[in-house]
Amino acid sequence: MSADHLSLEELQEDIGDCRRCSLWSTRTTLVFGVGNQRATVMFVGEAPGKNEDLKGEPFVGAAGKLLDELLESAELDRSLVYIANILKCRPPGNRDPQQHEIDTCTPFLREQVRLIDPRVIVTLGNFATKFILKTTSPITRVRGTVQQAGKYTVLPIFHPAAALYDNTKRDVLFEDFRRLKELIAPVAPDSAETSEVDSGGRDAPVQGTLFQE
Ligand code: URA
Repeated sequence: MSADHLSLEELQEDIGDCRRCSLWSTRTTLVFGVGNQRATVMFVGEAPGKNEDLKGEPFVGAAGKLLDELLESAELDRSLVYIANILKCRPPGNRDPQQHEIDTCTPFLREQVRLIDPRVIVTLGNFATKFILKTTSPITRVRGTVQQAGKYTVLPIFHPAAALYDNTKRDVLFEDFRRLKELIAPVAPDSAETSEVDSGGRDAPVQGTLFQE
């Protein structure tokens, strides 16, 4: 991949009909990412599932429906944010991404982050969190904690798919979206000391990240 693309369109052209790993042979559609190119908030998921593979758009299945509800709870919608995944092609049977697939695909995600230049990256689930924060801490330990990856503020949260049949996780997701809403709210001049977010006793901050200079 050539570095320093000038636009997401140029990047998408570069990725083209990608055959850089074997997932091309089982995918229907490559899922590049969707949303506002100047988004303040960028969401990073794991990989396309069946519906995304068919439609070519991230989070359009049941997990996507929950993501839409969560966005609405923070007074956001898809036109305001950008959504991408660690892998751009569906692993067969929705198996976990393999390390060589992550290594091959994520230079494109890195370029998407650089071009969009969001203020906040929300990582959905273990794979996105471990990749963006370069941490081995599981999502259960870091979720809801505000982290830093280079110049980016990172909020790791549960993957919406994990909350579909688990109401406790669903409640936690809505709680973490309240934190997201606080994070992106304009800061009033005299509210600096009340805007501090506590870690809730979980791990914070993670050392060494993808975007560290
Ligand atoms: N799960 C993900 O991680 N990404 C999608 O796009 C859909 C489901």
